[in-house]
Amino acid sequence: MCGIMGCVGKCDVREVILNGLAKQEYRGYDSAGVALREEDGFRNIKLVGRVAELRRLVEESAAKESTASEKNGGRTLSGIGHTRWATHGGVTVTNAHPHESSDGQIALVHNGIIENAREIRARLETEGIVFVTETDTESPCQQLAWLYKEHGDALRAMTELCNSITGMYTLVILFRDRPGEIWCARRLAPLVAAHADGVSYCASDPTALLEYTHDLFFLEDGEMAQLTADGCRFFGFDGKERKKAPIRLQWDSAMAEKGRYEHFMRKEIDEQPNVTRLTIDAHTVVTSVGMEKDLKLPEGFMRGIRRVRFIACGTSYYAALAACNLMESFDNTLDVRAEIASEYRFRNTAEGNDTLAVFVSQSGETADTLAAARLSQSKGTRCIAITNVRGSTLDREIEHTLRTLAGPEIGVAATKTFTAQLCLLDLLVLQLLKYRGTLSAGDEARLIGGLRVVPAQQQALLEREAEIEALAEKYADSKGFFFIGRRESVPLTLEGALKLKEIAYLPSEAYAAGEMKHGPIAMLDEKLTVVALVPHDDLREKMLSSVQECRARKAPIILLAAEGDEEAREFCNDIFFIPKTERELFPLVGVVPLQLFAYHTAKTLGHGIDMPRNLAKSVTVE
Ligand code: M6R
Repeated sequence: MCGIMGCVGKCDVREVILNGLAKQEYRGYDSAGVALREEDGFRNIKLVGRVAELRRLVEESAAKESTASEKNGGRTLSGIGHTRWATHGGVTVTNAHPHESSDGQIALVHNGIIENAREIRARLETEGIVFVTETDTESPCQQLAWLYKEHGDALRAMTELCNSITGMYTLVILFRDRPGEIWCARRLAPLVAAHADGVSYCASDPTALLEYTHDLFFLEDGEMAQLTADGCRFFGFDGKERKKAPIRLQWDSAMAEKGRYEHFMRKEIDEQPNVTRLTIDAHTVVTSVGMEKDLKLPEGFMRGIRRVRFIACGTSYYAALAACNLMESFDNTLDVRAEIASEYRFRNTAEGNDTLAVFVSQSGETADTLAAARLSQSKGTRCIAITNVRGSTLDREIEHTLRTLAGPEIGVAATKTFTAQLCLLDLLVLQLLKYRGTLSAGDEARLIGGLRVVPAQQQALLEREAEIEALAEKYADSKGFFFIGRRESVPLTLEGALKLKEIAYLPSEAYAAGEMKHGPIAMLDEKLTVVALVPHDDLREKMLSSVQECRARKAPIILLAAEGDEEAREFCNDIFFIPKTERELFPLVGVVPLQLFAYHTAKTLGHGIDMPRNLAKSVTVE
């Protein structure tokens, strides 16, 4: 949560900061601000609103300057910026970052939560420091100014600061009397730095830096950096300098642009066939006898495993649920579960060397997933990470990482990364089942073959967008939605309902169809729409019975049925046909119309889509 940007060196610092904030706005958009270190001091500009409005303010302020060089940012030596997802303190200009210390020495932006902020504040207030905001961030800002005044040494002040604050944070800092420097620190929140052509940068998200360089330094927890026009120096929280090698990130900066699309979400939905194809190609090899999975896990990885846990949050958790279903279908001798990371980490669950835990996170930065992963590692559990972001915390902390190849996902509502996760998890599960000897060659060939036609099936659905758009327009005034399905469809009902909540702000619930009559059916009437998933499988008849029960309560029914299932028409008000898939692979295809339905419903209702209210792309706070 919160996007941070810093820049120092020979460039238009102001433009780099604003550009970087625009690219990271999906991380938080309650307020935005910049502190620019100009020759005569800080220019601190902030507002409650979006980065585009901030840009206008900054440009207006620059236009008042007299010389051309001032107008084009030439006088700005260094700068920091922030786009906020509020935690402590309301959404006000005063609480917006950057914060300045009362002596005007420090300007600071922060992502995370400072847990001992109140104690620090109380102590500094007794020393006569006057706090002006309600934020936890002002405490490290004032504290750093105090330490710097005492020592006159930036490294020492930073070291003492980082050792005296608790919680999770990324801090990026300007010192008034060190105009050619930026300092930053990281503990449990993301921070990446880079240097290219006489300019140093830092940001929360690598995508903000890709147009300048692909060689990135990912800071570890407990690391600080000093950035200057000459390069980046890294230090531990013990104050000792550390050598760090950059990691080359292959993403193309154009991947993080909207191109011809109105919204990132829509672009990312369209990218799914390609992403699925890439994932399959990258993790399979063609052999003389057919197709083989190649996940590069050590052969003995599954030896002695009794339990498997798939652990994640939000949409990634629904991918985990789907993986759990797949594994269980072929091996009921294992204890397999999908777990919500924010719960798992606080439970006293059995794990250890006989347990395999698979952590799934698009960003690789979700605080609860990271905490669960650390807990599992501390218990000696064998861990695998599945993430989309190379160099992310999860990617670095877990030895065995499998990367989804979805490219940067900017829309807050996850789409292409979900299908990439489903696909990679399917391949992983098949490989694990094979190690255990519980997957027959026939089933393996059937599923790998089925996977290879998924991209074409996804593409065929995308080409029928107009049908979904019409459904979305017709039902957008429903008072709410129930998504129902069974077994493979249950993760999809959850995902379909979550997408509608996130971007259309409509009450939407997901139920295993058989559960409806145990309570939720009481809510049905002619204004509550039921979206029923009825793939062509052994549970079709049971699904149709559940649908009839809903229909008898006057609920309008949208049926997502298998292609050719004409008979299903009589059970619903509207029907949308989905290509037939291998039963186990239905989620990979069935999710596409659900994403499009949420997208067009939100559009019909006039919502912003890419940056839904109250949300942020990566949830780096607990
Ligand atoms: O980066 P992660 O996959 O760990 O994120 C987990 C959730 O925060 C994320 O899936 C969230 O639910 C999305 N906004 C869903 O669209």
